[in-house]
Amino acid sequence: MPAPATDLALAEEFDRASGRYDLLTRLNPGYHGALRGAATSLVRRLRDRQGAGPLRLWDLGCGSGLSTRALVEAAGPHVEIVGLDASAGMLEQARAKGWPAGVSFVQALAQDLPEVAREHGDGPADGAFAAYLMRNVPQDQRDAVVRAIHDQVRPGGWVALQDYHVKGDRVATAVWTVVCWGIVTPLAVVLRGNPAIYRYLWRSVLDNDSTSELHARLERAGLTEIGWSTARGWQRGILHTVLARRPEGERP
Ligand SMILES: C[S@@+](CC[C@H](N)C(=O)[O-])C[C@H]1O[C@@H](n2cnc3c(N)ncnc32)[C@H](O)[C@@H]1O
Repeated sequence: MPAPATDLALAEEFDRASGRYDLLTRLNPGYHGALRGAATSLVRRLRDRQGAGPLRLWDLGCGSGLSTRALVEAAGPHVEIVGLDASAGMLEQARAKGWPAGVSFVQALAQDLPEVAREHGDGPADGAFAAYLMRNVPQDQRDAVVRAIHDQVRPGGWVALQDYHVKGDRVATAVWTVVCWGIVTPLAVVLRGNPAIYRYLWRSVLDNDSTSELHARLERAGLTEIGWSTARGWQRGILHTVLARRPEGERP
């Protein structure tokens, strides 16, 4: 599959991948641990200031709910989470799982976050998580999406973004290419996933922002206290998590 021409085409590819998505992630050592790590870091930062009360969170690009589950495990059953995703098929997988009462899902593009938030009407959340979302947003719309994420988190709230970033790192790019073509795509064929989405995965990561490009976007959006970490194992230097804060003194 060439790069999808539209957000709709990409959402349809995720629809086709949705039935096998969880199975394929289970075969990726470190996938769930990395989600848990990012969700725990996000919740810990919020709890440091806010104590034990219920948190309100966005899970942007929530997919089949794996990142949402990581947030529930980190924040506890009284959490309120809105999971947003463009793909009806991925959301169907998510909704089929058991969730605490405060978890809901909405089908929308991250680019439409301001409208979705207005319709929701609860005001800025405490935090936002976006795992493997930003590289799927067209490059010329990423600043606007990061800015919208900033706006939908209250002053003093935190944002966590997790994704693969290899641009500018020759070793990381080579490892990524070997893993994609040697393991991930063949597995998707054998397990009757959607190999097209995994070819797209390879390309979209090569084209994704470098960590410094994303860092600059976060700064342009007004986020501060930006801190990066990388995963362990084969994903070291490839999978990165960044946490950033909306300044406390800003007006909501
Ligand atoms: C790789 S999955 C990650 C799902 C989940 N966050 C996880 O960690 O397992 C990426 C998800 O982003 C969604 N997505 C891609 N582009 C999007 C966009 N512009 N707006 C909203 N969702 C989008 C896809 O439908 C897909 O479910």
